[in-house]
Amino acid sequence: MPGVPLRSGGPAARIAVIPGDGIGPEVTPQAVKVLKAVAAPAKLAIEFVEFDWSADKYLREGVSLPPGAVEMLRDEFDAILFGALGDPRVPSNQHAADILLGLRFKLDLYVNARPVELLHHRLTPLRDRTEKDIRLMVFRENTEGLYVGVGGFFKKGTPDEIAVQEDVNSRKGVERIIRYAFEYARKNGLKRVCMSDKSNAMTFAHDLWQRVFRQVRQEYADVDSRHLYIDALAMEIVRDPSQFDVIVTCNLFGDIISDLGAQLAGGLGLAPSGNIHPGKTSLFEPVHGSAPNIAGKGIANPLGSVLTSAMMLEFLGWKTETAALRAAVRAALRESCVTPDLGGNKRTAEVGDWLAAKSVEALTV
Ligand code: NAD
Ligand code: IPM
Ligand code: MN
Repeated sequence: MPGVPLRSGGPAARIAVIPGDGIGPEVTPQAVKVLKAVAAPAKLAIEFVEFDWSADKYLREGVSLPPGAVEMLRDEFDAILFGALGDPRVPSNQHAADILLGLRFKLDLYVNARPVELLHHRLTPLRDRTEKDIRLMVFRENTEGLYVGVGGFFKKGTPDEIAVQEDVNSRKGVERIIRYAFEYARKNGLKRVCMSDKSNAMTFAHDLWQRVFRQVRQEYADVDSRHLYIDALAMEIVRDPSQFDVIVTCNLFGDIISDLGAQLAGGLGLAPSGNIHPGKTSLFEPVHGSAPNIAGKGIANPLGSVLTSAMMLEFLGWKTETAALRAAVRAALRESCVTPDLGGNKRTAEVGDWLAAKSVEALTV
C-alpha cells in the first residue's frame, strides 16, 4: 500500500529499536539486518540504538517506560522500530500498557495505519480470491476510545463488584483520523472510504463519530464514502474484501478488524503497521504480538517485521529502498522461502539472511 507521510527525506536517520518480549527479539533483528543491508549500497546513514524495555526489565528492575524516555525519543530519533510486548509472567500486561500504549498516547501517534494486502494468492483462506481483491488500508484511531485507561473498580473482589471502563472520544480526535483517511484516499487515487462504528448501540460516543463523519465527508465529494456498523463490516470484509479501499474506525474496532484483515492476507506473521503522527517521531511495529506459544524456537515469521521496516523507510522518504524490501518479501513468498506458519520449513534467521541478500539485489536492478 502506498503513502505514509514523510518524516525527513534526508540521507540520515536515527532509529530507536525496541525488540520487547517473546518473538519480538527474534524478528526485529531480521528487520534491522535487512535495513543495514540496503542502507550500505544506498549510502544511507541509519543509526540504530537499541533499548531493552521489556517484561524482563520490568520484572528485574520494576521499570517499564523509563523517565525521560518519551522526550528522548521525540527529540533524538526519527522513528522507532518495535517488536512486541506481552509476557505470561506479567498477567496485568502493565509494562506493555506503559510502553506501547504510553508511546502511542504520549507521542500523540493518532494514526494507526494497518495495510491489508494479499501478496500471494495462495496465502488467503478465501476461495477464488486473488491479489487484486485484497488490498485495503485500515486506519485505526490510536490515542482515544476504550484504550485510555479511564475507569475503575468498585467493591473489587466482592460478589457486588463493579468494573467501569470509559470510552473517551474527543471531537478533535475523531475528526483528525477521519480527515486523515479521506486525505490518504485522495492522495493515492483511492475511491472508497468506509467509516465503521457501532452508533446503533453506542449512542453517545459513536453519535459523535456519525456527526463528524457526515461533516467531513462533505469536503471530499470526489471520494465515495459510506458507513457500516462494525458487525456488518466484519461480515462484509470476509464476503467481499474487494469492495474496500480505506476503512477508518475507532481504537478497539481497529484492533479487531486489523487481525481479521491480517488473516485474509496470510496471517499475523505478515502484517505490518505504523503508529504515526505526520512529521513527528513515529513508531512502526508488526501487528502481531509476542507469540509466547512459539517464542524461543527460532521459527517466528520475520516478514511482518520486515514489511514494517519498509513502512518506516517510506515514512523516512526512502522510496527505492522501500520498494527493494517489498520486492524481496514478494520474492520470498513466490519462492517459498518462508517459516512454518506459511507452510515453509525455513527458520527466522534464514529468512532474514535471504531477504537481506535479495533486497540488495532488488536495489541494483
Ligand atoms: P499473538 O499475535 O502474539 O499470537 C497469535 C497467534 O499468531 C499465535 O498462534 C502465534 O504463534 C501466531 N503468530 C503471531 N505472530 C507470528 C509470527 N511472526 N510468526 C508466526 N506465528 C505468529 O497474539 P496473542 O497470542 O493474543 O498475544 C500474545 C501476547 O502478545 C499477549 O501478551 C498480547 O497482549 C501481546 N500482544 C502484543 C502486541 C504488540 O506488542 N503490538 C500485539 C498483539 C498482542
Ligand atoms: C496491537 C495489540 C495491542 C492493542 C495490545 C498489546 C494492547 O493488540 O497492537 O494490536 O490492542 O493495541
Ligand atoms: Mn491487536
